[in-house]
Amino acid sequence: MSEQQGTSKTSPMMILAAAVGVFAAPVIAIVLIVQLVLSIQAGHVDKDDPRMADAAVQERIKPFGEVKAIDPNAPRVEKTGEAVYTEVCASCHASGALGAPKYGNKGDWGKRIAQGYDTLIKHAAEGLRSMPPRGGNPDLSDTELARAVAYMTNAAGASFKPKEPAAAPVAAKAAPATK
Ligand code: HEC
Repeated sequence: MSEQQGTSKTSPMMILAAAVGVFAAPVIAIVLIVQLVLSIQAGHVDKDDPRMADAAVQERIKPFGEVKAIDPNAPRVEKTGEAVYTEVCASCHASGALGAPKYGNKGDWGKRIAQGYDTLIKHAAEGLRSMPPRGGNPDLSDTELARAVAYMTNAAGASFKPKEPAAAPVAAKAAPATK
């Protein structure tokens, strides 16, 4: 009895060792778990996998929808005379509807052309009897209208040089003339 008590007697050193063990065990466990997780993650990303290529990843994680910024100061792209004629003017001027002078018909256009380019543009812009202002499309710019008038009248014997706006130096630099 007394011998047993002697061997189970706890020394201060043993208490210290036990205390260190109690605190150290969880810390070691945590360190090991973290290392395990990190190694699993590292093994997970296969850099040679094509799906992990930079471009492929960018494609997958890119945000939905793209915003295309439109610069309100950007020079407007003016339509050609032919495009304006086809879209707007042809509905009347191709067939001569409402008494419109027909496209390419010198007899219809002769006297009108004699009025001069500026007057024709003015009438096209403001309207003339059954001819609606700007052919009914208020979005047409002066340049587009002038081009359409030249396109139409030149097809009927005139030789007007389409009026182009005096290009602003900045706009001219930003968009070098292609036409
Ligand atoms: C809704 C039918 C209609 C459309 C669309 C139309 N026109 Fe006309 N246009 C007429 C008619 C009708 C006349 C003849 C007016 C008159 O002299 O009584 C005319 C005449 C003209 C004239 C001759 C004006 C003059 O001084 O004799 C010009 C130039 C002209 N149109 C240009 C255009 C252009 C450019 C467009 C397209 C941007 C256009 N028109 C679209 C009906 C139309």
